[in-house]
Amino acid sequence: MTTTSETITAAAAGSWQLGDLTVNRIGFGTMRLPQRGPALRADAVPRDRATAIAVLRKAVELGVNHLDTAAFYFSPLRSANELINRALAPYADDLVITTKVGPCRLPSGEWGEHARTPGALRGQVEENLRQLGRDHLDVVNLRIVGGDSIAERFGALAELREAGLIRHLGLSNVRPAHLDEALAIAPVVCVQNPYGIGAPAEQEEMLRLCGERGVAFVPFYAIAGVGRERGAGAGGAGGEDEEVLAVARERGVSAAQVRLAWTLGRGAHVLAIPGTGDVDHLVDNVAAGALRLTPAELSRLTRTP
Ligand SMILES: NC(=O)c1ccc[n+]([C@@H]2O[C@H](COP(=O)([O-])OP(=O)(O)OC[C@H]3O[C@@H](n4cnc5c(N)ncnc54)[C@H](OP(=O)(O)O)[C@@H]3O)[C@@H](O)[C@H]2O)c1
Repeated sequence: MTTTSETITAAAAGSWQLGDLTVNRIGFGTMRLPQRGPALRADAVPRDRATAIAVLRKAVELGVNHLDTAAFYFSPLRSANELINRALAPYADDLVITTKVGPCRLPSGEWGEHARTPGALRGQVEENLRQLGRDHLDVVNLRIVGGDSIAERFGALAELREAGLIRHLGLSNVRPAHLDEALAIAPVVCVQNPYGIGAPAEQEEMLRLCGERGVAFVPFYAIAGVGRERGAGAGGAGGEDEEVLAVARERGVSAAQVRLAWTLGRGAHVLAIPGTGDVDHLVDNVAAGALRLTPAELSRLTRTP
């Protein structure tokens, strides 16, 4: 599979509807693009612009039509939104750009206070519009921390949706009660939570609930796992899982592909947004959409939380 993966496109993973927008189930996360190594740090090492642009253009060439971004994805010299704009504008009609609001990074790169008021959230929406060079945002996720009510914040975004600045709304880093709270206010097209092989029971529950409600479940860290934003490669900082490696060897694919295929195998409503700054890894990740693990392989890789 690795040798032929150049020809496999994102369509191989099948598609899903985010409201009225159709996306291939393999998308692309842009958090890794603005820097080499660990993301979201004030002292990040900026990535070469030409490389980042080449990755984005290759993703679209391979049929990726769902990008995940945020205005707070930036390094001292690059921002994910600027790179997307530079690489892909004017945007194809079928390209869906999902962004997220809530977290705030100051121009210095240090973290600021989360946006909690309607005015602060509107400011973040407008910042994304300016950076992406658009008049509306396809999907905006309210990204939260903690268990507080999201009614006021989600209500504020619902008003921006009514005003035409946002087409569809989603949630990120949420619990089941948040989803129900939001659904009582406005339609929710996706939930973006950390998930992958070995995910805890609460995330399995969130995945299941999303399926029941027809909401896309869009995991982050599906490849990195426990390594997360610290910048570790597939499998994370602790090294790759033995079972993942064994299945990869048996199928002649990469460990990252096994992780992505397992994740996509959890339900038709599960989308992937793997992040990379490496064209070969991108090709590998897109090709994972064609990898169908057998029921035996799926259960072998499934950990009891
Ligand atoms: N909502 C949220 O709170 C939230 C949080 C974090 C991330 N996200 C989004 O989710 C996306 C995915 O998360 P992520 O990028 O942190 O993690 P990920 O996609 O699980 O893994 C990315 C890591 O795996 C490596 N990698 C990717 N493809 C590989 C391959 N084929 N073989 C070997 N290594 C590979 C990357 O390094 P290389 O660059 O060397 O390939 C990077 O270190 C992000 O880009 C971002 O858009 C959302």
